[in-house]
Amino acid sequence: MPSTVILGTGSYAPARVLTNAELSTMVDTSDEWIRTRSGIRERHIAAPGESTSDMAVHAAKAALQDAGLAPTDIDLLVVATVTPDLVLPAASCIIQHKLGLRTDTACFDLNAACSGFVYALDTASAMVASGRYKKALIIGVEKLSSVVDWQDRTTCVLFGDGAGAAVLGVSDQPGVGLLGTKLGAYGDCVDLLYITHGGSDNPTTPESIAARNHCIRMKGKEVFKIAVRAMDEAARDILEQQGVTADQIALVIPHQANLRIIEAISQYLKLPMERFYVNVDRYGNTSAASIPIALDEARRAGRIKSGDITLLVAFGAGLTYGSALIRW
Ligand code: ACO
Repeated sequence: MPSTVILGTGSYAPARVLTNAELSTMVDTSDEWIRTRSGIRERHIAAPGESTSDMAVHAAKAALQDAGLAPTDIDLLVVATVTPDLVLPAASCIIQHKLGLRTDTACFDLNAACSGFVYALDTASAMVASGRYKKALIIGVEKLSSVVDWQDRTTCVLFGDGAGAAVLGVSDQPGVGLLGTKLGAYGDCVDLLYITHGGSDNPTTPESIAARNHCIRMKGKEVFKIAVRAMDEAARDILEQQGVTADQIALVIPHQANLRIIEAISQYLKLPMERFYVNVDRYGNTSAASIPIALDEARRAGRIKSGDITLLVAFGAGLTYGSALIRW
């Protein structure tokens, strides 16, 4: 099988920045609490009327430009999101139309929460490597501000909006591109991070809206513990699978949920924090958008060089987890 390579990346964050100081005027919290518990200083919030698909289109255009490709070159679009514009149809179809992709482009959404981009990378890579698709566009995008309970200080301080994208193609050069992935889920942990209403089990009612049951609920402490374990295992598994040692990794791009989670992974893997890309301070947790935004920033900042090995590692609601090794 030919190897799958990332031909270009792009990202986008809405202009509006919500600082911890401003949040402190909305709920009973403080900049100090948020910074010391999570490492977050500010997050971006979509403008009124700015949709998930709008943000995705910005990131996708930047990724296509970086790859030197036109929208019509794409024949597969995979969008990882838990906040699509509509419940039906898929955000990918809306994005396809807005971007001007061909009508013979396969389009679908994928929900693996914060692990969504790693899941999309694995899925699209396999489809491209099979030869049935030539060029894939994968997008991680979230408008979490639309499902955050702005009266719940235990969650509203953590999340933000944004989008990241990558273009995939194949290379004949052996040993480059996506070396391997490890995906999984702890389905027994569904009740740690969820939205109860708005799905088919509990359709939205006036009462559910009044109780804000269309918003994210989370048992933060439990999620924290499992997140550290799952990310550490996912990282170790992919390293073992590929016969790569931790010290060979030039840069880790972890899911940006909490600085303390990233620091714990750094200790477990015995890799200094300098080898971790961190931007949680500026974005908060943007779920599926978190890794592709960080990846794009790292590439544009010159943090990834030809021949480098990068480790992507994520966890999210589900609880899903995923890791990927890429040689550039
Ligand atoms: N401001 C001030 N105080 C607060 C706030 C706040 N924003 N939020 C909670 N507190 C209070 C709590 O009420 C609690 O008070 P109490 O001791 O009187 O009961 C106290 O602060 C400590 O709360 P803890 O929950 O113990 O705080 P902790 O140190 O565990 O940090 C946090 C909380 C940041 C949520 C952490 O547990 C965490 O990051 N968990 C992981 C969350 C995560 O990554 N979720 C994303 C999953 S990915 C996805 O798919 C969306």
